[in-house]
Amino acid sequence: MEYFEIEGGRPLNGIVKISGAKNATFPILSAALLIDGKTRIKKVPGVIDVINFINILKGLGVKIEENKGEITIDATGNIKSKIDHKKNHNLRGTQTLLGALMGRNKEAILPSLGGCNIGARPIDLHLKGLKELGTTISWKGGYLRAKAKKLIGSSIYLDFPSVGATENLIIAATKADGTTILENTAREPEIENLIDFLNKAGANIQTKRPGVIYIKGVKKLHPIDFTLIPDRIEAATYLIMGAITRGDITIKDVRTQDFEPVIMKLKEMGAEIETNNNEVHLFADGRFKSVNIKTLPFPGFPTDAQPQIMSLMSVSKGTSIITETIFENRFRAAEGLQKMGASIRIEHDTAIVTGTERLNSANVTATDLRGGAALITAALAAKGTSKILDISHVDRGYEKIEEKIKKLGGHIERKNDNI
Ligand code: UD1
Repeated sequence: MEYFEIEGGRPLNGIVKISGAKNATFPILSAALLIDGKTRIKKVPGVIDVINFINILKGLGVKIEENKGEITIDATGNIKSKIDHKKNHNLRGTQTLLGALMGRNKEAILPSLGGCNIGARPIDLHLKGLKELGTTISWKGGYLRAKAKKLIGSSIYLDFPSVGATENLIIAATKADGTTILENTAREPEIENLIDFLNKAGANIQTKRPGVIYIKGVKKLHPIDFTLIPDRIEAATYLIMGAITRGDITIKDVRTQDFEPVIMKLKEMGAEIETNNNEVHLFADGRFKSVNIKTLPFPGFPTDAQPQIMSLMSVSKGTSIITETIFENRFRAAEGLQKMGASIRIEHDTAIVTGTERLNSANVTATDLRGGAALITAALAAKGTSKILDISHVDRGYEKIEEKIKKLGGHIERKNDNI
């Protein structure tokens, strides 16, 4: 099993370039199934979840050519409706293939969805919406089966602004008959990127006001060239790494408006931050101050940056409180942080973090993607050499993480011996 060996205590200094957004890749590649002809997508991140997703698409009969972060996707011809159980790769990203296959084939057969173990993650809102569009849903032999004669536009209210459900319903409704109105939708930048992609390809989708989306069904979409937005969570992670190591770093190729809450909170904690359109410069000197954070749907503080900021809180002055409102099992990094000497008490959806002067090195295990990033963040600042085990979780969502950290002056090595 591969692990990272990290010698902590070196400030991260220099420039880091941010990759394309992992969570924009899945819905946009899914939506490309509605297009006849070759569509080119740029800034596709080379992370394991995306590589597995591309393999799933190829298994369905989609023609894909890859070249250094640029892919050409062509779903012309016969595309299968069933994703094989064995090829599902424990991915959350496959959820948007439900809407895409329904939009294209009027049939989708999917094994149960995977992804990080951070909560129950039901898909009742996706199914409620698809049923409103005319889909019948059943479960058989461990597979979800969705089928419709045709999809007909409807008005759908989401009880919670779910990212996946919003994406699925936008994709399914794009070529439906008539108009679909989605109320209380998610407003994450990845949704905006998906709408932009579909509209450029000939869809008729309008955000009437925040959280209300009108989709007028169209008959045909045409191929386009498209660039994915930068990964706001990767950007947030490197900013927090810069902060915890008291570094001086510049994050390039970002859209600052996509992770403003993280920037604001880091400023509140004491970081000096300057932003311009696609660049953020952070300078950190001395210990940070405690803050309180509540995770919320966009534009609130992102749940995907919560474990990383918990690491920073654990070496800040005073007591910080995190309220996690999105996922019920998202404090799993706390155990590793406690092993490193952090003082964290978990009470239901709340983590109470009392900062200590310095963390110590330890051998700790990544249990999920962002939790793994949080442990790396902590190890970069800890005294001594830490080992982060089970880094396959981290590889699922961070492109070339050790190369990027090394370039910033961090001491990190990928190792593969038995420990
Ligand atoms: C996406 C992101 C994930 C991020 C999350 C919230 C991808 C591949 N993953 O996940 O990184 O942490 O958004 O920003 O894009 N819920 C229901 N019923 C549903 C759907 C969701 O109860 O039908 C609940 C979930 O259990 C969770 C909350 O809604 O408590 C948010 O989930 P959702 O926004 O759907 O997240 P994902 O799309 O799974």
